[in-house]
Amino acid sequence: EMVEKQGFAHYMLKEIYEQPRAVASAIEPHVNPETFSVALKNVGFGGVSVQKLDELDSKADWAKTQEMFKGIERVFIIACGTSFYAGLIGKYLFEQLARIPVEVDIASEFRYRNPVIPPKTLVMTISQSGETADTLAAIRMAKEMGATTLSVCNVRNSTIDREAHGHLYMNSGPEIGVASTKAFTSTLAVLNCIAIALGRTRGALDEKTEAELVKSIMAVPSQMEGVLAFDKYFEEAASGLKLFRGFLYMGRGTSYPIAMEGALKLKELAYMHAEGYAAGEMKHGPLALIDERMAIVMVAPTDHLYEKTISNLEEARARGGKIISIGTGDNEKLRAISEYYLAMPKAHWTTHALLSVIPLQLMSYHLACSLGYDVDQPRNLAKSVTVE
Ligand code: G6P
Repeated sequence: EMVEKQGFAHYMLKEIYEQPRAVASAIEPHVNPETFSVALKNVGFGGVSVQKLDELDSKADWAKTQEMFKGIERVFIIACGTSFYAGLIGKYLFEQLARIPVEVDIASEFRYRNPVIPPKTLVMTISQSGETADTLAAIRMAKEMGATTLSVCNVRNSTIDREAHGHLYMNSGPEIGVASTKAFTSTLAVLNCIAIALGRTRGALDEKTEAELVKSIMAVPSQMEGVLAFDKYFEEAASGLKLFRGFLYMGRGTSYPIAMEGALKLKELAYMHAEGYAAGEMKHGPLALIDERMAIVMVAPTDHLYEKTISNLEEARARGGKIISIGTGDNEKLRAISEYYLAMPKAHWTTHALLSVIPLQLMSYHLACSLGYDVDQPRNLAKSVTVE
């Protein structure tokens, strides 16, 4: 391999630890650290080839991007796997910060559904590799149907990158581990920048709020360092997980896609059955599954949904479920009702997901290692699915 493990036991662990730097690289081209504002850099909606993007006049290019953003009426986000879960978080960001309707779709569903793509739709794809067959087919179809397309990918000059009208990059550096980690958080960082840019351009955000949001995203790399410093504790929490028959990951708001991503990581790496659910849906089925052999992983940051999440947690606990919770700061209440309580730094709702996913990545990683599984190359899975 061209890329070294640099002393880490696995590529995946190295990539988890690279997240602060990856997020910093993802936002660096787009944020101005003096004015705390966003201007998306060299997106290339003017139609230049991806090889020539760096030669663009950035000011003129940004004006073109803004013009595009003003002219659209809705956004579709299309992706697969972990990139799809990043897309779901994009929906919360774009709708709340830019007040534009967003639909998120799995590429293999979108392409075969004969979807309705009205005029003035921006179709955005998210793909680390830029080569996923279904995502590529989806962007081709969207183009044929007249949509403007925007690719968010990690591998520059990949097929999806080349075929899209506009281009943004995760800037994570090569990701080798099959289970995606740093590309996910870098994508969330880029989505924050796009959401702020959309919101400002469309008049949904004022300058002051923009500055607050930019400060929040700029704070993420050092907050991530703080979370990573607790790795020993996540490892200890993971050691108790072997005994469970099933796992229910839950959250509300942006923590709901994080719950699904956490469950996916457990399936991919530890080959254990896990489900990600919206906490508010628990009483519509999953509650029947809960007993003492079921672990509940609750993502419960102190946000506007916190009280509701807590009442869901109490319901789960009353039925004997064992709780691992992720919350904000020193939360006595969560600590008291959980087997393990994992504290995250205080963050704005728009960036919490970039932090709360880290303990979920690390718990799955440690559990898989302790079971003797190949974490960099899980059985039956591929890094990039280039055939259907
Ligand atoms: C495969 C990988 C996943 C990844 C998904 C989408 O399933 O194992 O980690 O999330 O493909 O890949 P993409 O390159 O399109 O983001």
